[in-house]
Amino acid sequence: MAGDYTLTIIKPDAFNSGKAGKITAHLEQQGFKIRAARVMHLTDAEAGEFYAVHRERPFYASLCNFMTSGPCMPMVLEKTDAVAALRVAIGATDPAEADAGTVRKLFAESKERNAIHASDSDDNAAREARFFFSESEIIRAR
Ligand code: CMP
Repeated sequence: MAGDYTLTIIKPDAFNSGKAGKITAHLEQQGFKIRAARVMHLTDAEAGEFYAVHRERPFYASLCNFMTSGPCMPMVLEKTDAVAALRVAIGATDPAEADAGTVRKLFAESKERNAIHASDSDDNAAREARFFFSESEIIRAR
């Protein structure tokens, strides 16, 4: 996985409002290649586990409610230095603070309903990719 793969989720706000195609196209235009993708509706248990690192934060319950409010679209993306590149491409957590041209500036509603998730390290990218996909579902260079 190291270096060239990351995990993203088009969140329920963006998916429900029909922005999945636009966001995916935006990322592809920036050189990200889709290496795995699925559409799913997270259960309470899945959302709670995925965001367990935030369990003590005041927004945890609300975040889990939001992430189970409708379908979402996890994807594994490939690009050189993918984790850092995707975090630049999506912009700050709060769309009000995101740079022009970033996914969150273009498509997000608020700090919580912020359209897209991106892994924050190579280790978390590998762990999060395996949360949603088996190894055989991820396309690798050959
Ligand atoms: P993400 O970076 O994908 O993962 C953690 C999520 O928690 C974040 O996106 C937001 O959706 C949400 N989040 C982070 N900080 C806050 C906050 N202060 N209030 C509400 N939601 C938040």
